[in-house]
This record gives sequence, C-alpha cells and structure tokens, in this order.
Amino acid sequence: MTAYNTRFHAYIEEIQTALAGCLPAQDSLQGEVARAMAYSLQGGGKRIRPVLTLEFCRACGGDTRAAMPFACAVEMVHSYSLIHDDLPCMDNDDFRRGRPSCHVAFGEATALLAGDALLNLAIETILTRADQNLLSPSSILRAAAVLFGCSGTEGMIGGQVIDLANEGKPVSEQVLAQTHRLKTGALIKAACVMGAVAAEADEVCVRAAEAYAENLGLAFQIVDDILDVTGDAAVLGKKTGSDAANNKTTYVTLYGLEASREMAAALTERAVESVRGLPMADSFLPDLARSLAQRVK
Ligand code: IPE
Ligand code: IPE
Ligand code: MG
Ligand code: MG
Ligand code: MG
Repeated sequence: MTAYNTRFHAYIEEIQTALAGCLPAQDSLQGEVARAMAYSLQGGGKRIRPVLTLEFCRACGGDTRAAMPFACAVEMVHSYSLIHDDLPCMDNDDFRRGRPSCHVAFGEATALLAGDALLNLAIETILTRADQNLLSPSSILRAAAVLFGCSGTEGMIGGQVIDLANEGKPVSEQVLAQTHRLKTGALIKAACVMGAVAAEADEVCVRAAEAYAENLGLAFQIVDDILDVTGDAAVLGKKTGSDAANNKTTYVTLYGLEASREMAAALTERAVESVRGLPMADSFLPDLARSLAQRVK
C-alpha cells in the first residue's frame, strides 16, 4: 500500500467508528427514522468530505481528534442532501450507493424526516461532541457557522434550487459554474475550512483551504457530470443518465466530454498549487485531488 492509501484507509476506519457512535438508538417507538438515518449514513460512500476535514486539520498542524466531530457533521449534511436529492420531487433516483435510495427503502415521509434528522444530528454533533480540551468555544462556533452557512441558501441548498429551476432551460456557462460551486463546492469548502479551524490555524491556512476546495469542488462536480454519461452504474452505485432524464444542463452538455475532462484536470492542478505552503503539507492533498479527477465512482 502506498502512504496515501494507508492514511486514507486509516481515516476511513476512524470516520466509520465515529459516525456509528453518533447515530440514535433504533429500538425506540421512532426507531424507523433512526434505521433510515443509519441506512443512508452507513451505506457506503467515498467519505471524501470527512477525509478532507481530518487531513486539513493534520496539514495545518492540528490534532485530528479535534476535527472528528466536524468531519462527522459534514458527512451527515452530505448524506441528508443525497436523501433529499434522490426524492421524486427532486432528481427522482431510485439507486444510491449501490442500494435502493432511502425513499425507496423506507418511503418518502421517513426519508424526508431522516434527511431532516441528519441535519439536526450534524448540529448536535458539533455542539456536544467537539472536545473543549482541544478546541476553544470560538473555534467550535466558527466551524458551525462555516458548515451551516455552506449548506444553506448561499451554499448547497441554494445550488439545488438553481439546479432544479433550470431543468429543461438553456443555462449559461456562468450560471452552470455557479450552480456547481453552490450545490457541491460549498460543502467541500466547509469540509476543508473546518479542518483548518479544528487546527486553530491562521487565516493564511484558511484561505489555502478555501482555494483548494473551490477548485476541487468544481472539478468534483464536473467529473460527477462526466460519470453520469460515461460511468458504469454497477461501479458508481447510482443510475447513469439521470441528468439527461431530468433535462439538466451539465458540463458535458455545454462543453462536451473532452473539454470537460480538461477543465477538471486544470482545476485539479490549481487545487494542488494552493496547498503547497501549509505547515505540514505533503503529497496527500495533491494525491487526493488527482485521484478524484481520475475516479470511476
Ligand atoms: C455525490 O457525492 C453528489 C455530489 C455532490 C456530486 P459523492 O460522489 O461524494 O457521493 P458519495 O458520498 O461518495 O456516495
Ligand atoms: C447533487 O448533485 C448535489 C447534492 C446532493 C447537493 P447531483 O444530483 O448531480 O448528484 P448525484 O449525481 O445524484 O449524486
Ligand atoms: Mg441533483
Ligand atoms: Mg442527483
Ligand atoms: Mg450527478
């Protein structure tokens, strides 16, 4: 195993354990919603966002234990966004992470509530699990402000609104880039910045985290658009052709496959450039960005 793979897998193991420890009991009267939350939160996924939070904390000179509640919270918000994204009123997708989508497995009402509950759990996790021996109260509040700012109307939710409003309509290059920055880039930015905040890093580090995330986040959604056309559903764990079925404008429909790949590659190299100066910089963040540009799922 390469050093990159070893660290990546160590992070994943720690994240899985921490997430499991945050979920509510399933043997209660309301256990059905807890089962739906666990189904979506623990049902696979690449865990890119929590890995970014832990790694930015490490690269900024921090103790990754301080970042774990933030890492869990961003994955909870991401999982909730996917549950809602798959609902019939949004992208109407029946498969996610290799299994029936949450609303197919549990019904729409429970899926809606499980998404809402994961958002609540994210807030609770930051406020109650952040270690006050490792972090100042102002850093905990800053992380919460970053995550919930990036997931609201000026972030993920805003992007989803524009994405849905533009189905079947012509979309300019600027509007598409802004949609992608908000619906996907913003949560990736929250993940990176919360890592720097967990390290109580200076503003130069925070700006480096933002720059990496802005470039990586747009590249990430461009590759997601490409995989919706070229991917193998069995590998991806979700149906391909969803964007075409919903008449979405994507990087592939606007620029074609080849130019989209080139844009993702150029953004990836810009991301790599932006983190060279971090106090504990090594090859992990560059390797991660490049592996995401090459990903098949
Ligand atoms: C899918 O995100 C939705 C987008 C924002 C493109 P991921 O590709 O990170 O999904 P999982 O978590 O690995 O399933
Ligand atoms: C999803 O974008 C972005 C969010 C969930 C916020 P997509 O709709 O392209 O994601 P997939 O392809 O369904 O994973
Ligand atoms: Mg969508
Ligand atoms: Mg979708
Ligand atoms: Mg997609």
